[in-house]
Amino acid sequence: MALLPILHYPDPRLHIRAAPVTEVNAEIRKLVDDMAETMRAAVGIGLAATQVNVHKRLIVLDVSEDQQNLQVFINPKLLSRDGSQEREEGCLSVPGIYDRVTRAEHIVVEALDREGNPFTLEAEGLLATCIQHEMDHLDGKVFVEYLSQLKQNRIKTKLRKRARETL
Ligand code: NI
Repeated sequence: MALLPILHYPDPRLHIRAAPVTEVNAEIRKLVDDMAETMRAAVGIGLAATQVNVHKRLIVLDVSEDQQNLQVFINPKLLSRDGSQEREEGCLSVPGIYDRVTRAEHIVVEALDREGNPFTLEAEGLLATCIQHEMDHLDGKVFVEYLSQLKQNRIKTKLRKRARETL
């Protein structure tokens, strides 16, 4: 397994719309495993392929307390959404920035697992937020885009400054 570099906002590659996975093969399973390792090493609860500059519709997440429950969604599709919840979000592509975002409280999602088998999952609360956040990445959307333009500009300035300082 290998750790993959994570793109940081405002990198324009975070806005590329990912293409469906056409076949769940050994290459895809390796990507899943590398993404899971990268997510754990970065102490994140979710990661979309977009964030490691692979523009395929694939996300991994683990919202369990002991980080022992990896969930893989290949070509995820929302079948339904209802209710609303506001929750503080962060993102491995927007380090050090946290803010509240309103999303559906309850969703039903269908996807393929790591073996390519289809499944349907009902999710609510943190898991529902996390799935929606990661699915946004596949459409080229980062959570800060839900915030005011003023906040987005501040975040861009801050992250650009930090990127310069770490060069
Ligand atoms: Ni994210």
